[in-house]
Amino acid sequence: PTNHLQVEGSCNIWRADCRAKGGSPGFKVAILGAAGGIGQPLAMLMKMNPLVSVLHLYDVVNSPGVTSDISHMDTGAVVRGFLGQQQLEDALTGMDLVIIPAGVPRKPGMTRDDLFNINAGIVKTLCEGIAKCCPNAIVNVISNPVNSTVPIAAEVFKKAGTFDPKRLLGVTMLDVVRANTFVAEVLGLDPREVNVPVVGGHAGVTILPLLSQVKPPCSFTQEEIEYLTSRIQNGGTEVVEAKAGAGSATLSMAYAAVKFADACLRGLRGDAGVVECAFVSSQARLLYVTELPFFASKVRLGRNGVEEIYALGPLNSHERVGLEKAKKELASSIEKGVSFVGK
Ligand code: NAD
Ligand code: LMR
Repeated sequence: PTNHLQVEGSCNIWRADCRAKGGSPGFKVAILGAAGGIGQPLAMLMKMNPLVSVLHLYDVVNSPGVTSDISHMDTGAVVRGFLGQQQLEDALTGMDLVIIPAGVPRKPGMTRDDLFNINAGIVKTLCEGIAKCCPNAIVNVISNPVNSTVPIAAEVFKKAGTFDPKRLLGVTMLDVVRANTFVAEVLGLDPREVNVPVVGGHAGVTILPLLSQVKPPCSFTQEEIEYLTSRIQNGGTEVVEAKAGAGSATLSMAYAAVKFADACLRGLRGDAGVVECAFVSSQARLLYVTELPFFASKVRLGRNGVEEIYALGPLNSHERVGLEKAKKELASSIEKGVSFVGK
């Protein structure tokens, strides 16, 4: 295509394109929505990731500028930009990992579900492209409402006959990142030493931090449990209100997305013991954590994507009550996504 931004390929005496084509070690990653609030810092951080050899930046606006800018960073990945629907297929062909932060963000007073009408169609179209051009790629869905957009992606892939439940992951890493931060503050620890499993989904009461399973082992007062649960569940809204109409979390989300993408790539490389929380199909492994078709839980990532889904483990009474509330809302958000594609 004429305006296909093969930055390194615009002069035929350069050999970078040969390097990219010649199978230099590393993975090929596409970001869809790369010019957005999340997309830009995510693109920058992925360009810094040594596991990435080729980075495709796709958006419907502004991807040329972002691509030009990022491509000047003297790190290993070869960067190419793609603009508009007619370049989606080129952006996706050959990719190992596709990260989707495309779509509108919340403004104060909105729920994530209020984004459904716009974002459902965006995710559907992008996933149709994935099914056609890179059906074996690992897909990380960031676009909200995650509790519905992941089921939408699954339905699109099922229709195309390409659905592999192990390769589709809703990104709930920001909930874990926030939980680690807030718990560390309460305990007076370095957040890097803290690990809080967060299960369920990615909206309000569906975000269920398992404070009884925090590592290192610790205990909380009832007041601390109530404060932490509410702060973690409302972390997104806290940022939306602070940004006062200018969008939702972008920088912490890009950080979380890269942390998660890096885990997926380490899994693909064959590293052992890569375990993170993610919103996945219950069919990914023969373990139904709950009766729901999708649920966020701890998963082990490997060469095929989700290699194992972990059971929830022992829950205290507060968490059991939270789980019932989460399941009720999740069931309807999942159904909403499924029936959108069925239409
Ligand atoms: P943004 O508006 O800044 O950027 C979105 C980008 O998507 C824009 O550049 C836009 O041009 C692009 N886009 C729109 N339609 C597209 C299409 N059809 N194909 C490709 N790109 C398209 O928004 P943002 O702040 O980056 O947030 C993006 C999404 O991520 C929102 O839905 C938001 O709610 C969600 N989000 C999720 C999490 C999470 O934890 N999963 C966290 C933060 C934000
Ligand atoms: C978040 O948790 O920050 C995102 O889901 C964005 C939002 O709308 O809160």
